[in-house]
Amino acid sequence: PKDKAALELKQWWHDRRNDLIALGREHGAAYVYDRATLTAKAKALRALPGIEGVFYALKANWHPEIIKLFAELGLGFECVSRFEVEHVMKTVPSLSKQKILFTPNFAPRAEYEWAVEQGIWVTLDNLHPLKAWPELFKGRDVFIRIDTGYGRGHHDKVRTAGVHSKFGVPLFEMDELERLVKAAGAKVVGLHAHTGSGVFSVDNWKSVGDTLTALTARFKDVRIVDLGGGLGVPERLGQQGVVLSEFGETLAALKAAHPKLTLWIEPGRYLVAEAGVLLAQVTQLKGKGEVHYVGVATGMNSLIRPALYGAHHEIVNLTRLDDLPTEVVNVVGPICESGDTLGTDRLLPPTQEGDVLLFATAGAYGRAMSSTYNLREPAIEVLV
Ligand code: LLP
Repeated sequence: PKDKAALELKQWWHDRRNDLIALGREHGAAYVYDRATLTAKAKALRALPGIEGVFYALKANWHPEIIKLFAELGLGFECVSRFEVEHVMKTVPSLSKQKILFTPNFAPRAEYEWAVEQGIWVTLDNLHPLKAWPELFKGRDVFIRIDTGYGRGHHDKVRTAGVHSKFGVPLFEMDELERLVKAAGAKVVGLHAHTGSGVFSVDNWKSVGDTLTALTARFKDVRIVDLGGGLGVPERLGQQGVVLSEFGETLAALKAAHPKLTLWIEPGRYLVAEAGVLLAQVTQLKGKGEVHYVGVATGMNSLIRPALYGAHHEIVNLTRLDDLPTEVVNVVGPICESGDTLGTDRLLPPTQEGDVLLFATAGAYGRAMSSTYNLREPAIEVLV
């Protein structure tokens, strides 16, 4: 029976592999999201001790089916534009307004005016709205995004603190913030910070918790502390992501020290990155002396992360899973830019036109950051 189970499993994988190859061949390029992984990730975060609100940062992936699934599983949504808020409201009309947190930066006055009227949670990440449009916030509950002074994450472009980051109200402006809040007649009910994206050490959220809870002595109406998102996921084989049990211990300790505060988090990547892959069919091969290129049907128009951050996505030739990897190649797309590379110096089995390559951990900030550059439509999306 043991052998039988192993054989069945092998057959199962074989069938799934063939399903994926068929999708890649049918569409040339496709993002594929796995509902079971999405569900497991959401449930794991909901089960964390000490946390009462998980607000999915839907900038990572706003596929309507993913939003519906997360809403069913009890998640709220962190939105950074009026358009994201409207998208959530349209996708899940029954969603409570209390499950939407609006955290724009440098948005125009009209977006705040609209948002406060909706009765959703609104975050201010600058003094400007309070100085220039105090009338909007009279008698309103607001969140303030704090710049903790320390930024963290997988790349300079995704670290969001310190004077060289455009985000948050710096700690040295707290006196003025207090005055402006009072003058506007607003109430600070929540404090919020997000230090960056792709963070692996749970010490990050401990220090964010310490920084924010220290401010509650000054802002007496605060009852919610939002520790941000940023949970890193493994992108290379063998890499360790955030250890959820350690994360939970940190949250539980913070909650025990501040039992009256409600703790929230707002991850994006953690919930969707590993649930998604990009498939792309091989179009052409080229060798320039020692350097070999494998061209695929889509490039930075679907997945800009390697070009923008030097981000790593594992690449697998699904068509030749059983072949030995013997070639070192650069995997490139069809876009007219030298930066249009999806993987550099990758070890792959000898590849041929028509093969289907899989790009891993592509569920977050993949399709969401895609474009129609060169008038090439990005990969379509499929939920399985
Ligand atoms: N909250 C706020 C206020 C944020 O700005 C972000 C991400 C998140 C939560 C969610 O962060 P996550 O849990 O996904 O790390 N495009 C980059 C990531 C940019 C993140 C922007 N803000 C990438 O592809 O790595």
